[in-house]
Amino acid sequence: MSNLYQIAIDGPAAAGKSTVAKLAAKRLGAFYVNTGEMYRTIAWACLKEGIDISAPEKVELALAKWTMTFQNDGNGEIEIVFNGKPVVKAELRTADVAMASSNVAKIPAVRAWMLQKQRDCRMLGTIIMEGRDICTIVLPDATAKFFITATPEERARRRFAQSGEVAAGATIKSVAAEIAERDKQDENRPIAPLKPAADAKVIYTDGMTPEEVADLVIATFKEKAKL
Ligand code: DC
Repeated sequence: MSNLYQIAIDGPAAAGKSTVAKLAAKRLGAFYVNTGEMYRTIAWACLKEGIDISAPEKVELALAKWTMTFQNDGNGEIEIVFNGKPVVKAELRTADVAMASSNVAKIPAVRAWMLQKQRDCRMLGTIIMEGRDICTIVLPDATAKFFITATPEERARRRFAQSGEVAAGATIKSVAAEIAERDKQDENRPIAPLKPAADAKVIYTDGMTPEEVADLVIATFKEKAKL
């Protein structure tokens, strides 16, 4: 591909966005950008430093001192560099950080802090960026836009199968409740709520393999890009 393109993917928690985006990025030779990890990094830092997430002004004060940049991890993904150090992705994949990330993502100052940094990822090359507001706010001019989702039951099953993300003693029922709470919060916040963009292709992934979803994403993108 000689031109630079952007593929934007939104969708609720545990819908399989990351798996599909990674597969499609590998096949297209594109760069994979996970914006959820950016919010998770802020949540992780707040939890680590004892900053009260329910007090937006305290988070905003901390943001003024923090830096976040991105670099190529050498494997086709971005590495988040937070306050000069690469973030350890496994530390972001806990149930506590997941819930806290949805809470910090409601804070207008956090979203404003993030927006230009995310848009600057376009300079990395052709990108596949996933999150909650990528099609609607971050990359409204993306070449192809998708809303990837699945039924709550299917998403709970998928999340339950990802051991790292699930708290000790959790059940499918408790995981489903955690996902539902996070989705409700992400869908109902006043700024950049989770919703399908009017021009996004909505893909219901129940009964589909990640490869099948990636095939559909790639075919739709190629059609839009006239490749
Ligand atoms: O995709 P994820 O589950 O890792 O995202 C964690 C949280 O971050 C999610 O519950 C809401 C927030 N988020 C957001 O508000 N906007 C994005 N573009 C990506 C994530």
